[in-house]
Amino acid sequence: MLNPQLNSNGELQHLLALRDLPKDIILHILDTATSFVSVSDREVKKVPLLRGKSVFNLFFENSTRTRTTFEIAAKRLSADVINLNIAASSTSKGETLLDTVDNLTSMNADMFVVRHAQSGAPFLIAKHINDHKRNHLHVVNAGDGRHAHPTQGLLDMYTIRHYKKDFSNLKVAIVGDVVHSRVARSDIHAMKTLGVPEIRTIGPATLLASGLSELGVRQFTNMEEGLKDVDVIIMLRVQNERINSALLPTTQEFFKSYGLTAERLALARPDAIVMHPGPINRGVEIDSAVADGSQAVILSQVTFGIAVRMAVMSILAGN
Ligand code: CP
Repeated sequence: MLNPQLNSNGELQHLLALRDLPKDIILHILDTATSFVSVSDREVKKVPLLRGKSVFNLFFENSTRTRTTFEIAAKRLSADVINLNIAASSTSKGETLLDTVDNLTSMNADMFVVRHAQSGAPFLIAKHINDHKRNHLHVVNAGDGRHAHPTQGLLDMYTIRHYKKDFSNLKVAIVGDVVHSRVARSDIHAMKTLGVPEIRTIGPATLLASGLSELGVRQFTNMEEGLKDVDVIIMLRVQNERINSALLPTTQEFFKSYGLTAERLALARPDAIVMHPGPINRGVEIDSAVADGSQAVILSQVTFGIAVRMAVMSILAGN
């Protein structure tokens, strides 16, 4: 089956998931992002690469970091940005997702940035666009259900490369609610493609994902064992809706077994970095001393996210 993310020339047409995305495209995005980091440091932060283009932010699910950084990124590329107010839009009157997209297309949209609680929603839009041969239109998945969050995965790879330089000698641990995490899936696929030799997931058996061992991921239910000698720790948000369910007892019990404390962080390599996609739950998956400590790079991830999203949009627009 053709990769729906690529056009007939093998170029990026949509960004939907990091699984099956060629290594050279991932590296091209990371390298392009490097050039945009310096733009963000300048007094005049704008470049004209998307001048005259319209980017529609369609966020059917809450977001602080992703929606805002997409908006900043598009504005720094000189695009016109339209944030659809979903609650006040006609989807709340029963209009289908594809009808909404068709109407926005009639308003000369160039790019849709889509977050949706349903896994596959951005794929559905991309397929609709491809089927109608609207090759000038692009879809960026900003997180769909528990499936994929590709720009988070890319900014995580950017962050790891920034601090660790090389993927080929790393041990990386992903901790917490792996089974429901689109971030974990995107990170794992990207790290496999980029050649990270040891990827671990750590969490209670109810929250670890089946199928990952086929990708060579080592699974640990003991936090202390899993953290030993790792270079990178990616903490995941404990999703509140899982608490007090059959999957997870109380937040206190989770913290007791899997919370990242300074004592547990000391089991990793001394220069290990601590990452988190946000929003963080202090005292649930991460202790404040660690979240605010010198090894945490959580806020750098947010800043790098702007450059990475600029890179994705600029490449999609053909620059
Ligand atoms: N990391 C992330 O997706 O955060 P938001 O939900 O705030 O966008």
